[in-house]
Amino acid sequence: MTVRITPSILNADLANLASEVERIPSADGLHIDVMDGHFVPNLVMGAPFVESLRRTTDLMFDVHLMIEDPDRWAPHYVEAGAQSVTFHLEAATAPIKLARELRAMGARAAIALRPATPVEQIADYLAEFDQVLLMTVEPGFGGQKFLDPVLAKIRRARKLIDASGADIWLQIDGGVSADTIARAAEAGADTFVAGSAVYRSDDPDQVVTSLRAQALAAQGPHR
Ligand code: DX5
Ligand code: ZN
Repeated sequence: MTVRITPSILNADLANLASEVERIPSADGLHIDVMDGHFVPNLVMGAPFVESLRRTTDLMFDVHLMIEDPDRWAPHYVEAGAQSVTFHLEAATAPIKLARELRAMGARAAIALRPATPVEQIADYLAEFDQVLLMTVEPGFGGQKFLDPVLAKIRRARKLIDASGADIWLQIDGGVSADTIARAAEAGADTFVAGSAVYRSDDPDQVVTSLRAQALAAQGPHR
């Protein structure tokens, strides 16, 4: 049974990030959202920012690129110190080639799908990735409501991953909270991004710990 909680710093105090990161010692990694104002309407954080943050913590960096042309930009985030780089299928020109390039650089390669993109689109080359990220909100902003229709896709993704026999993390991102994490874990997710639930709390680390406990309790027998 495995559950990973990777808090998103999008809703943290961005001017004091080093101390914000120290508030979540129980996290399994740091989810860093990168937005370019084109693939999504919002604009935050680039590779130089990741490089600076890298000097402040040993946490695993799980970079989520919501940008156009990841084929060109994703490798820069490995150079900046990310252990895992997630790019969107909808934005990539050559996802298999890019995944192989990221792995060859020593990083985990991950693919993200917007809520309406079917997981079956990546079924034939699932094993090229170390993580599949299913968005449970439309990417772009924190604090949105969890989209329940994605639960069926989480179940189908879990089946595809188990059938592949590969060790692929199934991550969800968007609207994860004490109200939603159990049903996502029950559906088969094992890695959870939580932004506002963690950073809008007075005790972020306690939220990380209790989200993990809830997910563990809800995980089905398949894990
Ligand atoms: C949304 C980002 C998320 C966001 C999650 O586009 O990819 O990582 O920070 O925030 P919450 O948990 O508030 O939905
Ligand atoms: Zn994200």
